[in-house]
Amino acid sequence: METQSIQEVFRRSNPITGRFVLPGDKSITHRALFFSALREGRTIIHNPSSARDCRNTYELLESLGCCCETHKDHWVVDGSARSVGPALMNIHFGNSGTTARLAIGFLSGERGTFSLTGDSSLSRRPMEHVTEPLRFLGADIVTTDGKLPVTVIANRVISGLNEPAKAIEVSSAQVHAALTLAGLRSESGVRIRRIAPMRDHTLRMAKKFGLSIQTHDDLDQVYPVTEPNGLQGISHKRRGLSTKDPEPNVDLLIPGDVSSASFLITAALLVSESDLQIHNVGLNPTRTGFLECVKGMGGKVSWKITDNEWEPRGSIHVQYSPGLHGIILDNSSHITPLMMIDELPLLAFLGTQANGETVIRDAGELRVKESDRISATVAMMGSLGVKIEELEDGFRLSGQQKVSGGGRADHRGDHRLAMLAGVAGLIAEEPVIVPNPDVAGNSWPGFWDCEAWRFNLQSRFQY
Ligand code: S3P
Repeated sequence: METQSIQEVFRRSNPITGRFVLPGDKSITHRALFFSALREGRTIIHNPSSARDCRNTYELLESLGCCCETHKDHWVVDGSARSVGPALMNIHFGNSGTTARLAIGFLSGERGTFSLTGDSSLSRRPMEHVTEPLRFLGADIVTTDGKLPVTVIANRVISGLNEPAKAIEVSSAQVHAALTLAGLRSESGVRIRRIAPMRDHTLRMAKKFGLSIQTHDDLDQVYPVTEPNGLQGISHKRRGLSTKDPEPNVDLLIPGDVSSASFLITAALLVSESDLQIHNVGLNPTRTGFLECVKGMGGKVSWKITDNEWEPRGSIHVQYSPGLHGIILDNSSHITPLMMIDELPLLAFLGTQANGETVIRDAGELRVKESDRISATVAMMGSLGVKIEELEDGFRLSGQQKVSGGGRADHRGDHRLAMLAGVAGLIAEEPVIVPNPDVAGNSWPGFWDCEAWRFNLQSRFQY
């Protein structure tokens, strides 16, 4: 009989207190890596996310010939040695949707043929929203029914970008980043129109690297790196300038991951008498939707930006909040569901502990994340005694529910749901069993070692 590693999570009887600092933001780390690979010079990425997803991006750059170094608290990437191809490569992205989507844009500007695959979860996720606009711009990309495996036949120059008939409309931050990376390496750039609110890390990163992407309201004009106004910081050589001086180092300090912080915040809101602070965490306004919603529900949470250079960062203070009330969240809300898509299962769980009803709609995108996060959340919570109604595009649930626990939380291999099960265990009547807990490492490798719940856990093997 096969044994499986499990994590057993026990109820927490004492408060969660103290100061926490989290590993770097996953979204920002991915972008830092891709932009660094375009430079001929050393980029030092401090406090990177060591998430398995970001490692996938790091390994991709290594396999393209970039010089990459891993140190205890920083990574160094130098794109000078990046191979100019033509290459024939098989690349596996593991579970990482962000690596896959951004890489498809990035590789469109390389030379060679790239066969791209992912694990079974990633192979079910749509890629066509990235490949279709790139194809329209002249890239040669073949998908398998709109999904991985994908083949990118790249010729260095995406010529179709010469006729950017109209701006390409995007509603996903990953697609925006993929098109930006492709546009930077095209002949005449690309115009992108953002038709939905989305995280803006790509634009901030471009600015940090000295790229002049012109932005007017929701329209971004990305200039190719060969144009004088398109590139200021990436490379003297690629700009056709000769210089004896080496490219200067660029230092990037990645703020703590606010999506990871949401698990700590949820735990502190629900565990009696908790009072905790999270420092050096990213507080980019395009990522603070969860904080805003929790505050709107009556949660005792406050945050303060202490450094507003490049990516806003600061601290969060959260206290036990027994008086939470339910929330209605849809596209008519001040914060739309897509603005906090990764935190929606946590918000639904918080709703089950609040007073009154919670309804989350216009979140159909959840169905194509690492799992179908609507049905998986409903089923997993159901097995822990918490009732959530599955809607086509979200959840409906009533508050003040007991978490009976005592069961096995089937997170379907989805890192965010495995971590949600861990947090639910802290207030469950009976221990919660989380199989394959290691999956949390896709976004937060240190999750199970976090001081907030380390003493409530027992890891073992089970048949
Ligand atoms: C991400 C964007 C979001 C988010 C994902 C990371 C990014 O997806 O769900 O976890 O880094 O750009 P969308 O691209 O669908 O907005």
